[in-house]
Amino acid sequence: MAEPVRVGVLISGRGSNMAALIEASRATDCPYRVVLVAANDPDAPGLAIARNAGIQTYAHSHKGMKRADFDALIDAELRGARVELVALAGYMRILSEGFIAGWAGRIINIHPSLLPLYKGLDTHQRAIDAGDAEGGCSVHIVTPELDDGPVVAQARVPILPGDTPETLAARVLVEEHRIYPLALAEMARSLQRA
Ligand code: GRF
Repeated sequence: MAEPVRVGVLISGRGSNMAALIEASRATDCPYRVVLVAANDPDAPGLAIARNAGIQTYAHSHKGMKRADFDALIDAELRGARVELVALAGYMRILSEGFIAGWAGRIINIHPSLLPLYKGLDTHQRAIDAGDAEGGCSVHIVTPELDDGPVVAQARVPILPGDTPETLAARVLVEEHRIYPLALAEMARSLQRA
């Protein structure tokens, strides 16, 4: 069997999607392994989850730094850990074009909407306000345009009467945790074949 693809996960907060990626990687036939979790906030709760799972972590605040300089730090950590694929999991920083170009086709992100609908923030509120019957989440390849790259996986959930952004977010999150590991595994398999 081919070596598992080395994955670096970037987070900014609680890290529940990161945890789902790590959990799924425990399966013996999983084609990827999370080798590094990096955060732009040293207080991100997800860092402790990663450490407890025995995964190398890196945290550095982006505050007061130029975007390209901060991204160069992250890039150096990823390269140092011989990462092959980067998974954004609640990473609340827009990446510089240089960083994205250096990882072209090798960064994926999970976004809590049915892309191309509702790029950016407040996705659940916007779906409710629009009277949509369904919400959901999308996994996509990261390109320089925000939340715009090719969608590789999507899951839908109903929007119910009385839903708030919080109740809808909770319903969508269950699906995020389901499809993100599947999409990452699929991408890892295609790298193994390449
Ligand atoms: C998720 O809803 C994800 O789709 C969005 O940010 C949230 C991160 O949550 N990009 P978590 O940190 O993975 O728990």
